[in-house]
Amino acid sequence: MTVSMETIVSLAKRRGFVFPSSEIYGGFGSFWDYGPLGVELKSNVKRAWWRSMVYGRDDMVGIDSAIIMHPHVWVASGHVNSFTDPLVDCKVCKNRLRADDLVEQKCPICGGELTEARQFNLMFKTFVGPVESEASVAYLRPETAQGIFVNFTNVQATTRKKLPFGIAQIGKSFRNEITPGNFIFRTREFEQMEVEYFVRPGTDEEWHRRWIEERFQWYLKYGIKPENLRLRPHCENELAHYAKGCSDVEYLFPMGWAELEGIANRTDFDLKQHTTHSNRDLSYFDEETGEHIVPYVIEPSAGADRAMLAFMIDAYDEEPDNTGTRVILRFHKDIAPIKVAVLPLSKKEPLIKVAKEIEHALRKTFVATYDETGSIGKRYRRQDEIGTPYCVTVDFDTLEDKAVTIRERDSMEQIRVPIAELKAALREKLEPED
Ligand code: GLY
Repeated sequence: MTVSMETIVSLAKRRGFVFPSSEIYGGFGSFWDYGPLGVELKSNVKRAWWRSMVYGRDDMVGIDSAIIMHPHVWVASGHVNSFTDPLVDCKVCKNRLRADDLVEQKCPICGGELTEARQFNLMFKTFVGPVESEASVAYLRPETAQGIFVNFTNVQATTRKKLPFGIAQIGKSFRNEITPGNFIFRTREFEQMEVEYFVRPGTDEEWHRRWIEERFQWYLKYGIKPENLRLRPHCENELAHYAKGCSDVEYLFPMGWAELEGIANRTDFDLKQHTTHSNRDLSYFDEETGEHIVPYVIEPSAGADRAMLAFMIDAYDEEPDNTGTRVILRFHKDIAPIKVAVLPLSKKEPLIKVAKEIEHALRKTFVATYDETGSIGKRYRRQDEIGTPYCVTVDFDTLEDKAVTIRERDSMEQIRVPIAELKAALREKLEPED
C-alpha cells in the first residue's frame, strides 16, 4: 500500500520513534531526536549493515574516527573549495532556495525576482580552543569517508590487509543544507554508513559493478519491496568533484524516487590529494609486483536515517479487522525495534507474576517488553503498530500446563510452547540473517 509522509511522521511521534528536536522550544531547523523505539530501529539498521559489511566478510575492517579533523583534511579533499550548493534569495519574500532545484527563474513561493546564484559551502564551521580566529577554524565532517582515507596506512599496516580490502565506518556527519526536509530524509545532522573499498587500478570498474549489485540486494534482503527500489546511474554533470562514476540506489518515498545510497568510483583522488597535502606516502606496497601503487576506491555510502525511514514506509500496512483497521509495521525481524512482547491475558495475579518472570528471563536474550494495559486485542494491535514480530501470551491454562502462546505478527498464527522451551523457540525464529 502507499502511505503518506504525514502518516509516518504522526506514527513516529505518537509511538516514540522520532520527535522534533528541542520540541518544547518549537523545534529547530530540521533536527530530529530518536525516541525509545527510534533508537532501537536505527541501531538495528546499523547493526544489519555492519554484519553484512564487516562481520560477514574477510576483506573488511571497521574504524570510528573523530568528527572534527585537521582543517587541512577538507582543503585536501576539495570540500573547502567545491562542497557547495548554488544559493539564491527571493528579493520579495526573502526565502532562500537552491538554484538547482528551481524549474523557473522566479520564486516558487511568491513568484518574486531572485538574486544571482552564489556558491554556499555546506560545511558547518566551529572553533577549536578558546580563541575564535581564522587560525582556529575547524569543520564538522560532512562525510565520514575522509576519516577512512587519512587512516588508510594505519589500518593497512596494523591489519596487514591485502588489496582488495575495505574499511567501514558508521557515524554522524553534518551539512548545512539550504533546503532540508521530508522528515528525516534530508537533515543537517545525519548518520552515514560508509565503506571505502580499495582496489588495484584497472579493476575498479568491475568492483564498482559488483558493489552496486551487492548494495541493491542488501535492501531487498531486509524486506524492501523490489518495486520500490531502483538503480540510477548519475549523469556526468551530477557527479561529485571526486567521482568518475556513481550509481544511486533509490527508494520510492512518498515524495518520489530519492537516493538511499550512492555507490561511487572515487578513483585514487583522495589518497593522492592527501599524499600531496600531508607529504606522507599513502601508497600501498604490492608484494606480488614489488611496486608501490595508489589504490582506486569504490565507495558505497548509505544514509542510516533515510534507510530507517525507507524501512518504516515500506513496512507500513493497514488491513481491516473487527475493531476497524489493523495498522502493522511488517519489519524484517532483524530490523524490528522490539522483538518480543509478553502479555498476560488478564490483569490478574498470578498471571501477571508469571508473565513478568517470563519477560525478565527473555530480556537477557532479546529486546523484550511487557504490557498488561487494555484488552488483549488492543495490546496485539499496539505491538503490530510498532512491528513487534512475536507476542507471548500468558493465559489461565499456563498455570496448569506450564505453556504459553506465541503469536506471529503478520499471519497472526498462534502456537503453544512449553515455557521451558520458549527461549529456544524464539531464538530459532529470531536468529539474525547471515
Ligand atoms: N562520502 C560520500 C558522501 O558523503 O556523499
